[in-house]
Amino acid sequence: MEINIQNPFGEEAPVKLPRMETGREEDIRPGKTVLVIGSGGREHAIVDALSRSARVQKIYACPGNPGMSRHATCVPISVTDVEALRDFAKEKCVDLTVVGPEASLAAGVADAFKEAGLRIFGPTKAGARIESSKEFAKQIMEKYGVPTGAYRSFDRYEDAKAYAESLPLPTVIKYDGLAAGKGVVVAATREEADAALRDMLLDSAFGKGRVLIEEFLDGPEFSFMCAVGGRKVYPLALAQDHKRAYDGDRGPNTGGMGAYSPLPFISEEVREKALKEILQRTADGLADEGISYTGILYGGLILTKDGPKVIEFNARFGDPETEVVLPRLVSDIYDLFDAAIDSADYEPEWSKESCLGVVLASDGYPGSYSKGVELDFDGCAKVFHMGTKASDGKLLTAGGRVAMVTGMGKTLEEAAARAYADVKKAVTKGLFYRSDIGKQALN
Ligand code: AMP
Ligand code: GLY
Repeated sequence: MEINIQNPFGEEAPVKLPRMETGREEDIRPGKTVLVIGSGGREHAIVDALSRSARVQKIYACPGNPGMSRHATCVPISVTDVEALRDFAKEKCVDLTVVGPEASLAAGVADAFKEAGLRIFGPTKAGARIESSKEFAKQIMEKYGVPTGAYRSFDRYEDAKAYAESLPLPTVIKYDGLAAGKGVVVAATREEADAALRDMLLDSAFGKGRVLIEEFLDGPEFSFMCAVGGRKVYPLALAQDHKRAYDGDRGPNTGGMGAYSPLPFISEEVREKALKEILQRTADGLADEGISYTGILYGGLILTKDGPKVIEFNARFGDPETEVVLPRLVSDIYDLFDAAIDSADYEPEWSKESCLGVVLASDGYPGSYSKGVELDFDGCAKVFHMGTKASDGKLLTAGGRVAMVTGMGKTLEEAAARAYADVKKAVTKGLFYRSDIGKQALN
């Protein structure tokens, strides 16, 4: 298949010259070609990290976004068009592919690439079930002793209702399957719980219904992402997302309105415990099940009075956590991906600096919103594009979450001050943001 590489966002991104100039024979190797699948802020952060790699010469992004086009050549192939992605990677002699979105994993992109002998960082469909099936995730956790809330699953409304009513409030009800982030209801009253069960089991608003009813867990939530290569687990820096739309954690749930890293409220002891008892145990469990997992294992954790427990797993980089974690990576990210694919020993190094990011969102988000507002990020230190579009030389809004404005600093205060100074430069009529990202940690 012939693919036309037209960069819809401007000029073809430059090819970097490899920086190995030591003259040693082993260092004179051609630079690597990398493909990043996705078009959001998370993938922009991955491209940004790859652009700092000494080993990477050429970056492609499918389909990419205007922010990435500085470092990557963006090619309009859909993230779920597995065959076209595979053929493109073959044609361009791509050395390594990194998968951003879950939809791509669910479509079997890693399976197809592996079958074709292509190196890919992202789990196969079997591994991605840790995210796509909440019941599968619970079964793995139960079998391998990974701390999480007690649960039961139901497909009959009457049984689910009876069980829910036997539990104390609030009741946590989760749809078992991908529901675009809308599949979890933390019901404060019996009526809310009943309405959720009716939605998920009777109205089949989500497709063929099956729900988990789960013990309510209380405490601060945090995100612990690890790169995984079989039984090898490479921890990334911790981060915290802000899921609610408005200040003070009020308003509807969103895809994430801001994040920061590192986390002052998680001690080294708690981190070690989470790494050993949650992430490592899950990676080992998957391996014992015969699933060879390569990619990010994202632990959505909560620090309860009985220690860290799992709220959910994702099979991919978190968004917007990635945008504040990867800027803190001191090591070469290509080495990390490479090591994980080969299950080789490797220890990524992290900067002691803090990074904090604030999402600019379209007025009305996560409900309906308009597009086409003109943007100007001039004078901002680092902005990751989430929902933007280039048109006639202008940069326009094209999504609910538009961009993540980030700041780095020696302390979280300094990072927050820098990020918010840039937010003030970038914000325009038609956009809103939360003014309290990182505030709880700062107090
Ligand atoms: P999830 O999609 O599983 O991450 O759930 C979305 C949000 O619902 C989480 O970020 C939590 O704030 C909340 N949540 C999910 N499960 C529980 C639980 N067992 N206890 C308390 N809150 C929960
Ligand atoms: N930030 C949560 C997620 O990526 O699912």
